[in-house]
Amino acid sequence: MIKSCGQADNVKIRKATFSDLNVIETIERSSFKTPYPKSILKVLMILVDDGFIVAEKQGKVVGYAISIVEAGKRGHLISIAVDPRYRRKGIGKTLLKHSLSYLKSRGARTVFLEVRASNVAAQALYRSFGFKKVGIKRNYYPDGEDALVMELRFEDNDR
Ligand SMILES: CC(C)(COP(=O)(O)OP(=O)(O)OC[C@H]1O[C@@H](n2cnc3c(N)ncnc32)[C@H](O)[C@@H]1OP(=O)(O)O)[C@@H](O)C(=O)NCCC(=O)NCCS
Repeated sequence: MIKSCGQADNVKIRKATFSDLNVIETIERSSFKTPYPKSILKVLMILVDDGFIVAEKQGKVVGYAISIVEAGKRGHLISIAVDPRYRRKGIGKTLLKHSLSYLKSRGARTVFLEVRASNVAAQALYRSFGFKKVGIKRNYYPDGEDALVMELRFEDNDR
């Protein structure tokens, strides 16, 4: 099993639907310097299908994650975010665990992601699941910040 300690209680994970788009967009805007617009989120929802999940607490969407299996059985965590009012309660861990299980079930052998060099919170989350830094993409973000590329190999971390 994928490492899963410290997850949130009373959180339901389900596939995202179009009716979640407004809330997801609000979370996106409060989470990223250059948020995806609703139109892109909608396209992603269609493209990744089951890989677009939301976390619900007491019937309210409080976070989401987007992942897809790309060529070469490489899983890609495209995005993950939690409503700022609900952070540090284990919801990010719960979303990440479900995304990793999904990618594994779809045949991924590895998972990679890009994260801002300054985003220590997300990097700590990823490291706690066994992700390691494998590269840097210079000037990756529109404001010029570098991205760290982090990768998880299921063979090494499947416990
Ligand atoms: C990254 C993010 C999704 C984490 O969500 P969360 O629900 O707060 O995460 P969790 O409560 O499950 O925390 C999981 C672990 O992440 C790390 N972490 C989370 N927030 C942290 C912070 N502010 N500082 C340091 N470590 C942090 C910790 O290791 C934490 O484990 P712990 O609480 O046992 O110490 C959330 O901070 C977020 O939405 N950030 C903005 C969007 C973003 O940066 N997404 C990642 C893009 S690559």
